[in-house]
Amino acid sequence: MSFTDILAKRRAVNFFDHEKEVSDAEIRSIIEKAALTPSSFNLQPWNVMILRDSADKDKLRKLAMNQPKVTEAPVVLIVLADRNGWQEGHPTLEQNFKQMVAAGDMKPEQHDWFVGACQGLYGKDEATQQAFAVKNTGFFAMSLMYAAADAGLDTHPMDGFDHDGVREAFNIPERFWIPLLLCVGHFDQTKKLAPGKWRKKYEDIVVCFGD
Ligand SMILES: Cc1cc2nc3c(=O)[nH]c(=O)nc-3n(C[C@H](O)[C@H](O)[C@H](O)COP(=O)(O)O)c2cc1C
Repeated sequence: MSFTDILAKRRAVNFFDHEKEVSDAEIRSIIEKAALTPSSFNLQPWNVMILRDSADKDKLRKLAMNQPKVTEAPVVLIVLADRNGWQEGHPTLEQNFKQMVAAGDMKPEQHDWFVGACQGLYGKDEATQQAFAVKNTGFFAMSLMYAAADAGLDTHPMDGFDHDGVREAFNIPERFWIPLLLCVGHFDQTKKLAPGKWRKKYEDIVVCFGD
């Protein structure tokens, strides 16, 4: 499928065929493809939880405005944005530094400088940590949706949920923000797909603030 076809094919589908399974290998594959998403300073501040168990999905649905797709989809991903990835000792930060040293782009004695640079970009204050984590994780989530569409899977992103309720119910540590939940499955072909939504035109998107 061409990328243009993927862009056109992806829809937020409301009805999932709960008899059509999605394998662990398919989920692994879309996550591995989405892992190619770029991120600022390559800090990749994203994680996902994979929910399949019906008790878990029942629990999540209650916290997600009772949206039926949460239990109808065979898999729901809780997409997490890590607000702490700028801290010294964080495995992703340290892996980046190690790779830069191995490539000859940094010297081992520049570790403090490197941590300081990450902190300046991402760790300065709570608002910066939140913005950095959620911005980069949003790109990752979009890649998940396109990778799923490329693999013949349907998705539905959701931010209609009780954020702190989900965090508590699934023991998610405080350092994570949850930008969205993502249902993954197959559209229920017995249902009618809602007509595509309008989009802003080029003229509406491009702005200029000159005088
Ligand atoms: C971050 C995000 C959160 C969303 N949250 C919800 C939601 O909680 N419930 C819902 O029914 N749709 C939700 N949507 C779906 C949007 O309404 C939908 O993507 C949009 O109307 C465009 O339709 P399309 O995805 O079919 O092109 C969400 C979409 C995004 C990107």
